[in-house]
Amino acid sequence: METKADSNLKHELESLRQQAEAALKAADTKDALEAVRVEYLGRKGRITGLMRGLKDVAPEDRPAMGALANEIQEALGQALEARLSVYLQAEIAEKLKAETMDVTMPGTYRPMGGQHPLSRVVADICAIFAGMGFAVIDDDFCPEIETEYYNFEALNFPEHHPARDMQDTYYTNVAGNVLLRSQTSNAQIRYMENHPLPVRVVSPGRVYRNEEVNSRKFVLFHQLEGLLVDEHVRFSDLKGVLHEFTKQFFGGERPTRFRTSFFPFTEPSAEVDVQCIFCEGKGCQVCGHVGWLEILGAGMVDPNVLQNVGIDPAKYNGFAFGMGIERLAMLKYSINDIRLFFNNDLRFLKQFKGL
Ligand code: PHE
Repeated sequence: METKADSNLKHELESLRQQAEAALKAADTKDALEAVRVEYLGRKGRITGLMRGLKDVAPEDRPAMGALANEIQEALGQALEARLSVYLQAEIAEKLKAETMDVTMPGTYRPMGGQHPLSRVVADICAIFAGMGFAVIDDDFCPEIETEYYNFEALNFPEHHPARDMQDTYYTNVAGNVLLRSQTSNAQIRYMENHPLPVRVVSPGRVYRNEEVNSRKFVLFHQLEGLLVDEHVRFSDLKGVLHEFTKQFFGGERPTRFRTSFFPFTEPSAEVDVQCIFCEGKGCQVCGHVGWLEILGAGMVDPNVLQNVGIDPAKYNGFAFGMGIERLAMLKYSINDIRLFFNNDLRFLKQFKGL
């Protein structure tokens, strides 16, 4: 038999259904629909509220009443869903419209950078020496702001020796002995001080000299230092390595020539020429009609240098070489003014992009 509580609850549920339907009808925005959902279907909503009255209903009627409540809940949920989906569709349509793009419109031109020709040449040279088993020393291993000790003294330049003036050095006002390195040869000392033998490395980097600027000389330029120290190293090993280097760098077998020279840190020392790549030795303007181009300095590491880093010159020996990057790049790419590398004119730089 239906009790009072039963008919009350049933009545309330029916009335709630009508109110919810009316509220749904009146809701004309997404937010209003959401408010209806919260009011009727929410966790603290009205249907849940009414269901608390289910405990007062006669046990045999509870299933029917529960089913009614569920039916109302479900019907309301579906109706809400249907109404909300209209808004969602509209939102999606709007978003799609806003995001459409006209693929026939001209694009925005974003110029692509390229490697600087000097970086390119350094990378090429390093790759050639890496192919012959030389490791490449990191840029930051050797400082450009250096002390006299590493730039000169440890490299066997005696104090007051005129060779120190050969490389018009920039001294700083930091301290009497602090300077901008005038050569990458400081790498020889710094590397040997910190690494066990055998040593077989190249070290590219920037150097500074107080030069009168012209088409061939600039106050800063780049060098690449090479160093090999081991047992039983011969001068012919140096010749072989440098000959192979010129072959790979300039692309093709051509004679190299070693002329006697002097560097305080090598003995014997040589300046190395390659047969002029422009006239093949016949003589032209670039080689000053001699048929040869000077490309680097080299020699067998002076025993005093080894001693300065605690290596026994009776047991070990080696060779070193140093080359000017700008000079090599100028020869390889027929560039006639060193300043072009430094004034960042895109018309110049662009020409090296595809290399
Ligand atoms: N450091 C020398 C220079 O700057 C080049 C060089 C390096 C010569 C290593 C011999 C050995 O002129």
